[in-house]
Amino acid sequence: MNSINFEERGGGTTTENHDDLCYLEKINEQSILDNMQHRFNSGQIYTRIGEQIISINPFNNKHVTEQKDQRLKQTYRNKYMYEMSPHIYQLAEDTYKKMLQTGTNQCIIITGESGSGKTEASKIVMDYISHYHPQSSSSTSSTPSSSTTPNRQRYNRNNNHNHNNQNSTTSIMKRILDSNILLEAFGNAKTQRNENSSRFGKYITIQFDAAGVPLGGKITQFLLEKSRIHSRAAGERNFHIFYQLLTNQSLVERFKLNSDPATYNYLGNDSGSVSKSTVNDRDGFQSVLNSLESLGWSTEETDFLWRILCAVLLIGNLEFEVDTNKNVDSVFIASQDTLLRIAQLLECDASMLEKALISRSLTTEAAAAVHPARLEAGKHPNYESSEMEQQKFTLKHYAGPVTYDLEHFIAKNRDPLNQDILATLQLSNDPYLSALFPSLNCSGNRKIPTMAGHQFKQSINELIASLQQCQPHYIRCIKSNDEKQPSNFNQSLVRNQIRYLNIVETVRVRKAGYCQKYHYTKFFSRYKICCPTTWNPKYDKSVKEGCNEIIKSILPSHERQSECFFGVKKIFIKSARVLYLFEKQRQDNLPKAAIAIQRVWRGYLARCWFKKELEKLKLQKEEIQRQLLQKRSAVKISEVYYRYKMRSLIAKLAPWTQAPYYNKGRQMPTLWRVKRQFDDYLVLIQRAWWAHVKVAKLTAEQRSLIRQKVLALDLFGGGGTLRKKEWDPKRRFLADYLNNDSNPKKAQYVQAIQSLFPSGDDKEILFADNVIKVNKRGKCQLRTLIITDQHIYKYDPKKYTRKKVGLKIHLIVALSSSSKRDTFLAIHFKPPVRDLFIDLGCDAVEKVSEVATILVQQVFKLTKNTIPLLLREPVTFNNSRDSRNSGTDWVISFSPYAKKETQRQCTFTKGKTNAAIVYYQESE
Ligand SMILES: Nc1ncnc2c1ncn2[C@@H]1O[C@H](COP(=O)(O)OP(=O)(O)OP(=O)(O)O)[C@@H](O)[C@H]1O
Ligand SMILES: [Mg+2]
Repeated sequence: MNSINFEERGGGTTTENHDDLCYLEKINEQSILDNMQHRFNSGQIYTRIGEQIISINPFNNKHVTEQKDQRLKQTYRNKYMYEMSPHIYQLAEDTYKKMLQTGTNQCIIITGESGSGKTEASKIVMDYISHYHPQSSSSTSSTPSSSTTPNRQRYNRNNNHNHNNQNSTTSIMKRILDSNILLEAFGNAKTQRNENSSRFGKYITIQFDAAGVPLGGKITQFLLEKSRIHSRAAGERNFHIFYQLLTNQSLVERFKLNSDPATYNYLGNDSGSVSKSTVNDRDGFQSVLNSLESLGWSTEETDFLWRILCAVLLIGNLEFEVDTNKNVDSVFIASQDTLLRIAQLLECDASMLEKALISRSLTTEAAAAVHPARLEAGKHPNYESSEMEQQKFTLKHYAGPVTYDLEHFIAKNRDPLNQDILATLQLSNDPYLSALFPSLNCSGNRKIPTMAGHQFKQSINELIASLQQCQPHYIRCIKSNDEKQPSNFNQSLVRNQIRYLNIVETVRVRKAGYCQKYHYTKFFSRYKICCPTTWNPKYDKSVKEGCNEIIKSILPSHERQSECFFGVKKIFIKSARVLYLFEKQRQDNLPKAAIAIQRVWRGYLARCWFKKELEKLKLQKEEIQRQLLQKRSAVKISEVYYRYKMRSLIAKLAPWTQAPYYNKGRQMPTLWRVKRQFDDYLVLIQRAWWAHVKVAKLTAEQRSLIRQKVLALDLFGGGGTLRKKEWDPKRRFLADYLNNDSNPKKAQYVQAIQSLFPSGDDKEILFADNVIKVNKRGKCQLRTLIITDQHIYKYDPKKYTRKKVGLKIHLIVALSSSSKRDTFLAIHFKPPVRDLFIDLGCDAVEKVSEVATILVQQVFKLTKNTIPLLLREPVTFNNSRDSRNSGTDWVISFSPYAKKETQRQCTFTKGKTNAAIVYYQESE
């Protein structure tokens, strides 16, 4: 934002070049004039009085170039009034901003005499607004129509059509500007005072949405100077469009026109100023064509326009002659060709048209509507009748005295068309033309046609009513000179305008008065954001005190009293500068407030969400707790019941815990509703416990025996698929069967053992007995087999001498036996050590299980390997190999004795090469 130094601008007295006239030291006509001239001479055509803008017409093209300069418009954008030098842009910006901020209707009233620049000022405003919204699409069309025109419906229909055809990219503002071009062509004319004088009043309405985007527009025109068609003051022109039309060669040819305006009575001019006109009609017509196209007029519609214009021009050229053949005063149309051409263009009946043009019905009431005699009768102080010419009178208007010529007074004031002409036009075959003149009431209710004066009054009343609904903004236009010369400041002309525009009074009132007043509540609600105390939601003091608080926070103490006045209901703010300070402070604080509000709102939303979620969670929790409670009580009940069941069961199990028999062999009771597996485990536990009780009572020796028995049970008793039938689990393992009194050679045996131990590393006898050994030729030999902890020795059973060296136990790789009732065992050694095949049933007692168990146990002790005991038929072994010779396997099959044999447990019978049969005794 531009920083401004108000002291500098307002305080100077020597230069007297203030952009606000309120800053003038002395306020009078001269000081204002000087200030304005000073500014005008330095190229500053705009000055302000508070919020009003005074624009002095410079008659140069500066504003045209300015309008093309988008950057200049940009500098005014979003600025406050006192931030920028006065300009129409600044007023437009202020108006636009007020509309957005307050949401109320705003209007800009442009006043000034003819040629002072009102039309140009209005274009500058619209240009600025359109710069704001270059892309806004049209949803409603702006039209050169009066809200009171009867043909409005038709226009609306056309507009809809236009709207459909027109792409929506055409902005509302462009359409308004285009309509304006048409209005200027048809409603503006060169006058003595202004080359482009608007000959009608104009009220442009633009509707915006809440975001400030133009939604639609409407141009209401009133009081077009229709009489200009047929008569105007010397040196003036008809409406531009007629001259423009004649510049277009193709239209001139098509309608058989003459391109020289002088050939048309309506366009010809006594003083010849037409040719001197500076207006470029050719360019003007091109703009009209472009606008028509841009507004979406169809070819038929534009064609109709040209036909009407031609007809009007030709009507001016009709020649009327007095009909001398008739007794009464009457006229006839001499130029019948022209009449026919007109009838053709208007598509109406030529004779009817002729009749309408030469005869006239007058209503006396209408003619009597306005009469100067009435004014005279009033003897008003501002009324003066000329003594020289009785036919003229002068009214002293505010802007100056105006002399009225009564000659055409009534004719000019009479607005309505002759009834006959109306009827002719209504009956036209041209649908556009007949639609322009809808039929008069057929009911015979003849209203007095309205006079121009009456219409004027009505229009002004309507305009005032519309303006009263808006907050006004003013642009006062001043003409710098009558000669339309650039940089020419005519003091007396401007002084006159200053006088009748009431500028001195305006400045005085503005300076003495207050630029803005607010109800306390409105002021408070608008500016409470400027002060932290009042912005606090807990602020609880009165609104008036709040306003004071706000002012204190913004204005320095010396300015508070002079700038703000506290009334009964309202607060008055002296200068726009202070108002600007409030606005600026508010604008600066708005984003902070927006963030704060957003924060609170988001917080609120989050809390709402959290509350909801919490509520949900609570419900969930309660549900879970309820379920848990149900579960817990169920669990509790089942626990208690289970314990009770267990107690009664344990009571039942008591006999299984009592010595000496622990209810052995009895079926344990099944647990109630406990899985079978648990039953099984319980049985195992009970057995283990029972075993533990039993084992605890055994000696170490007994325990080792038990271990052997358990191993024997594993080996022979059923772990495998086969079971050695000849196996007696009840037989006790005695280990040494020779150190026994039943052995007649016991002494010799003991001696042999005693000589054995010191010679080697053997320490104990694990087994000793006489066995039958099968040699490599299949011959059975009786031997004493001694198994120590390290070796297997074969001794001669008669002398107890050792045969060969002992076989190392740790070289045993497997044992094999049949599953039958024989007593043979094959001991397999790691080659080349030969296998052993021995019969362990010499004294008719089974000792296979004992030897196998001892060997498995001992090999495990020495090597930590568990050697397999293979129970299968045939049994094969190799006892003929040595280190050089691999030898041959014996294949032994097993068969029971054919007859009962009591002598021996079993017999080895050699068959053909290395095959043999072991006969055994079947069970009794
Ligand atoms: N701001 C301006 N800068 C330069 N020239 C201007 C400016 N305003 C007006 N003019 C010139 O003055 C001429 C008359 O201005 P304009 O038509 O706006 O007057 P007006 O007040 O509308 O008059 P009327 O009441 O006759 O319609 C314009 O054609 C233009 O040449
Ligand atoms: Mg104008």
